[in-house]
Amino acid sequence: MDDFPLRGGIVHCEDVPLPLIAGEVGTPVYVYSTATMLRQARALKSALAGLDDPLIAFAVKANPNPAVLATFAAEGLGADVVSGGEYRRARAAGIAPERIVFSGVGKTEAEMALALEGGLSQFNLESVPEAEMLSGLALALGLEARVALRVNPDVDAGSHAKISTGAAHNKFGVAIGDALAACARIRDLPGLRLTGVAVHIGSQLTSLAPLEAAFERLGGLIRALREAGHGILTADLGGGLGLVYDPAAPPPPTPADYGAMVARATRGWETRLIFEPGRLLVGDAGVLLTTVIRIKPGPSLPFVIVDAAMNDLMRPTLYDAWHAAEAVVPNGEHMVADIVGPVCETGDTFARARRIDRVGAGELMIIRTAGAYAATMGSTYNSRPLTPEVLVNGDEWAVVRERPAAEDLLRGYKAPPWLAGKP
Ligand code: LLP
Repeated sequence: MDDFPLRGGIVHCEDVPLPLIAGEVGTPVYVYSTATMLRQARALKSALAGLDDPLIAFAVKANPNPAVLATFAAEGLGADVVSGGEYRRARAAGIAPERIVFSGVGKTEAEMALALEGGLSQFNLESVPEAEMLSGLALALGLEARVALRVNPDVDAGSHAKISTGAAHNKFGVAIGDALAACARIRDLPGLRLTGVAVHIGSQLTSLAPLEAAFERLGGLIRALREAGHGILTADLGGGLGLVYDPAAPPPPTPADYGAMVARATRGWETRLIFEPGRLLVGDAGVLLTTVIRIKPGPSLPFVIVDAAMNDLMRPTLYDAWHAAEAVVPNGEHMVADIVGPVCETGDTFARARRIDRVGAGELMIIRTAGAYAATMGSTYNSRPLTPEVLVNGDEWAVVRERPAAEDLLRGYKAPPWLAGKP
């Protein structure tokens, strides 16, 4: 099911023709489908339905737009946050504190205080020094912090090196071999209650095998911790399920495959399972809608220069990510071209030597699978404004983040005294 179908020769988002949005909001603009988000959330819920009260905590980092968070909050999802800013967004969107987990390797004391005072389900701790900081804070505030220890299971997630997190040399979690000692130390720290364990080995995983290996190691640790007298009530299995970006690449496992594997791997654990899906829930729900500025002849292939750039969508240049690119009103003809943005770097390339719909200046294109790690990773590089976002729901649509005005780009800058008043 694709919520960006070609209907009457025009790509729509649900029931809204994309040229309508481009006409009213301008381009580049991200367009999100509510139907895709709900379908993905429900597919995961039903894949996990056999488990005892699982908590699905949307990884806010994937798409922190408040309207996206509110959509998931209304669906009963929780949130996995990694900063004070994400915690505030989750709460503002109506996500109940007991559905929030706080992950991240570098939580500051201020961030810990914000969540501890505001309430949350648990902190996923990644080191003993972090536990010591939280203990001191909890004592000072007279509060108790429920914590889980994130372990590093030392498995190769098989994903891009920059988004793999579960190998021993990665900065994340406590080495699984050191987890018993770390938990013994945490038990002795006042103000903390160790209630669980956590693992997250990477993102855009296209095979279940590394996940299953990580979960098996986690199961062994849970048994060892219980033997050592720890009451382990929760196991957080992280996120990581991949999506189809390139239809020619091997397809990732489905939520149902994942659910079956989880049920198998966690049999007998007797813990509440927590999940932190990000990309799975929002990746396919978004496209980046852009206009072709001009076609520039190249030495062998033409350059299709679009008005979106690497500052709007970092993934191709950062991870060599492949994103589908299509015309919004395809004319049935094709061309082979490089699709590039206006930014002054060769890395500002969305696709190389790609066979695409034939397009010309002024025509609209979409870059697909741009609902996750897309708008949120945008920047104002080359003094380009951040990209606006639109949410569609059936035949309704709304701007859920405005395009900043030109003067907004200068907000916050101040002349130093020695330059003040100079032209
Ligand atoms: N939990 C933790 C602790 C994480 O670090 C992440 C993602 C997730 C959950 C969600 O993972 P997901 O289900 O989305 O795979 N910017 C990169 C992806 C970075 C992922 C960071 N952590 C990209 O564009 O591919």
